[in-house]
Amino acid sequence: MFGAVQLGLLAACVVLFVPMGMAGWHLSRNKMLFFSCALFITLAVGVHLMPYFPAISDLLSPADIISAPSGGSSFPRDSCLFFLHSGIYSGDEECESGIGCKKRSWEWIQSGEVAECQFQELKKLDASILLNGSWVVVAGDSQARLMVVSLLELVMGSEGMERIRGDLFKRHSDYSVVVDEIALKLDFFWAPHVRNLTELMVRFKGKNRYPDVMVMGAGLWDMLHVNNPSDYGVSLMQFKDSCLALMPVSSDLEAIDGGLSQAPSTQLVHFFWLGIPTLINSMLNTEEKRDRMTDTMCDLYNNKLIDSKLLRQSSGPLLKLDIRLLSELCGPQCTVDGMHYDQLVYDAAVQIMLNALLIESNQKLQ
Ligand SMILES: *[C@@H]1O[C@H](CO)[C@@H](O)[C@H](O)[C@H]1NC(C)=O
Ligand SMILES: *[C@@H]1O[C@H](CO)[C@@H](O)[C@H](O)[C@H]1NC(C)=O
Repeated sequence: MFGAVQLGLLAACVVLFVPMGMAGWHLSRNKMLFFSCALFITLAVGVHLMPYFPAISDLLSPADIISAPSGGSSFPRDSCLFFLHSGIYSGDEECESGIGCKKRSWEWIQSGEVAECQFQELKKLDASILLNGSWVVVAGDSQARLMVVSLLELVMGSEGMERIRGDLFKRHSDYSVVVDEIALKLDFFWAPHVRNLTELMVRFKGKNRYPDVMVMGAGLWDMLHVNNPSDYGVSLMQFKDSCLALMPVSSDLEAIDGGLSQAPSTQLVHFFWLGIPTLINSMLNTEEKRDRMTDTMCDLYNNKLIDSKLLRQSSGPLLKLDIRLLSELCGPQCTVDGMHYDQLVYDAAVQIMLNALLIESNQKLQ
C-alpha cells in the first residue's frame, strides 16, 4: 500500500527525471523548463485535489486495514466499534444546570472517521425503543452495580430510579426488576469473582435460556480479597470458554459480526466486559486497599485480561467497556474513594454500550 511519503518521492522523481530524459532528446533549455514546470504544477494540483476524490484517498488510507465489508451501507459500521471510546467529557464542571450552563457529559469527537460513525447520545425514548422487550443481565462487583444505576436511570428517569435504589444496593445481593412500559427485564447478579461469572454462564447454558445483553466484569473485589493475578488469569480463561459455549459455533462468528442478530436459528447474546477503573491509590480509604490495589497490581490484572483473549480486540467474545479510560478522562475530581467514580463515567459507558448495540443489530436512530 502506498503512503503519502512514497507518493511524494515518486512525484519528485518524475519532476526531476522526465525533463532530464527529454534533454536527451535535444530539447532546448526553455522547452525543458516549460515541461518541468508543467509537470510540477500538474502533480501539485493533483496531490491537493486527491482528498476530494474518496476513491483515490481510500486506496492510500491506512483505515482500509480494519474496514470489513459491510452489508450494503457505504460506510463500514463494524469498524465503528473501534471508535466507540473516541470522546471527551464536555460541559461545565460546577453546574447545577442553571441558565447557559451545560452539565458535563460524554461527547464523541466530531471529526474524521469517528464523525462518520454518527454515534449519538440516546435519550430515554431512544433507549426504550432499542431495549423494548429485551432481557439484560449485569453481573459483577460494585462497579457492575453502578452500571445498573446508570442504565435504569436512563430508561426509568431519576424518580423511578430513586424508588428502587435501596433494594439495588442491599449489600452483596442479587436484584431483579421489570420495567413494565417497555417489558425490559433487568437482572443484576452479585458476582465478585470471575469464577462467579463462569458459574452464571454455566447456569444459563443449563437452562438453555439466554439474555439478549450481558454486561459482566469482576476485578476490584478480587484484587482486594484474593490479590493473585495468575489465579485471576486462569479464571478468565475458564470464563472465556463458558462464554464461547453460549455462542453459535465459531465458524459463524464472522457472519454474525456483519450484523446477523436477527438470524432465525441462532440466538445472539451481546456480551460486554466492564473493565477495572483507574485506581487512585492515595485516595483509597483503607490501609488494606492501599497496600493491595497498587498501580502495579492493576497492570498485572489488566495484562491477564489481555492475555486471556477474552475481548473482541483479540478476537474474543466480549466487547470492552473501557472504564479505565473513561474514569481517567473524568479525572480525580470524579471520585471520592479512588475506585468508584461519579455517575458521569458509567453514563458514558451506557451510551457506548447502547451505540454498540445499535451497530451490532444494524439499527439507526430515527
Ligand atoms: C414496545 O413494543 C411493543 C410491542 O412490540 C409496542 O407495542 C410498544 O409500543 C413498544 N414500546 C416502545 C416504547 O417502543
Ligand atoms: C463466588 O465464588 C466464590 C469462589 O469460587 C465462592 O466462594 C462464592 O460463594 C461465590 N459467590 C457467589 C455469590 O456465587
